[in-house]
Amino acid sequence: MVAAVRVHKFGGPEVLTFEDITIPAPGPGQIRVKQHACGVNFIDVYFRAGAYPPAGGLPFVIGNEAAGEVVELGAGVTEFKRGDRVAYQIGLGCYAAERVLPADRAIKLPANISYEQAAAMLLKGMTASYLLRRTFKVEKGMNVLVHAAAGGVGLLLCQWANHLGATVIGTVGSKAKAELARANGCRHPILYREEDFVARVKEITAGKLCEVVYDSVGKTTFPASLDCLRPLGMFASFGSSSGQIEAFNINILQYKGSLFATRPSLNTYAAKREDLLAIAADLFAVVGSGAVKVPINQTYALRDAAKAHRDLEGRATTGSSILVP
Ligand SMILES: NC(=O)c1ccc[n+]([C@@H]2O[C@H](COP(=O)([O-])OP(=O)(O)OC[C@H]3O[C@@H](n4cnc5c(N)ncnc54)[C@H](OP(=O)(O)O)[C@@H]3O)[C@@H](O)[C@H]2O)c1
Repeated sequence: MVAAVRVHKFGGPEVLTFEDITIPAPGPGQIRVKQHACGVNFIDVYFRAGAYPPAGGLPFVIGNEAAGEVVELGAGVTEFKRGDRVAYQIGLGCYAAERVLPADRAIKLPANISYEQAAAMLLKGMTASYLLRRTFKVEKGMNVLVHAAAGGVGLLLCQWANHLGATVIGTVGSKAKAELARANGCRHPILYREEDFVARVKEITAGKLCEVVYDSVGKTTFPASLDCLRPLGMFASFGSSSGQIEAFNINILQYKGSLFATRPSLNTYAAKREDLLAIAADLFAVVGSGAVKVPINQTYALRDAAKAHRDLEGRATTGSSILVP
């Protein structure tokens, strides 16, 4: 039996149930991993609440990211051996002391990355990687707007975009978050609950606006985010922490300057194994060089997953949160 956090019915943080479960031996092409740390991500909230339906129905073990040690190999697995240190971002099953997964979703960890760092950064950091390098190529001298700049993905985006030479403007929910964002490469934090962020972006950029907006907030920042873009700018809507954007008339993109808009997902960008490994390598390189640091600002015991969710949804966290089995 292994400790795990399961969802038996959709709802608030209180539906997260800490219990013992049995897990099967790894089948062909699978590995069993003893997990040392599990990442907490906003996508876990969507699954818990029922906004994203779990493929296998209820009940399910929640959690999309973890890191640990390979303890058993299924038939035909040649890429890994017992004792290998691995991490993965994968659909569900991660809030547990052990799990079985397809070997082709696991990534070997470099020696300089701890289990805690890996669980705190793999999903969020690979997201920052594809957003900055593939969805839109951020270059030196560009103006970049990052919403929820002090969050898990947000702090990584700020550091990395700053490292690429962009001027980073970020929105945040409090003064303390503004200071944290600033310390992580966000040159111009904006308190978007108090200030008109469009007016501030116009002022900061002297009317030039931004080449790209990375928007994970959704409902409350749309359509204002579009007004922060210069003609032909890119609106990358990659999350909906405040709720989903309602249906909109696509002609708005024409009126606001022949804009591009995309709703990207890491699952698409990392679907092929070679892309998964390339995006992860890109991340390990910037973390390894010290250009991007992984702020693990909240650590909880696995049994306290409900508190981790309350804090994340309650906008009480900054940077990354992990659970320790
Ligand atoms: N598409 C992808 O590939 C992908 C991959 C990873 C994550 N994501 C998305 O990226 C976003 C960030 O994920 P994360 O795990 O790093 O979370 P996070 O940003 O650390 O937490 C969410 C933050 O959103 C802000 N927020 C604004 N309105 C909110 C509201 N009504 N309720 C709660 N929070 C609100 C809060 O910051 P302030 O207090 O500063 O406003 C809060 O701290 C999520 O939307 C997630 O779904 C997408």
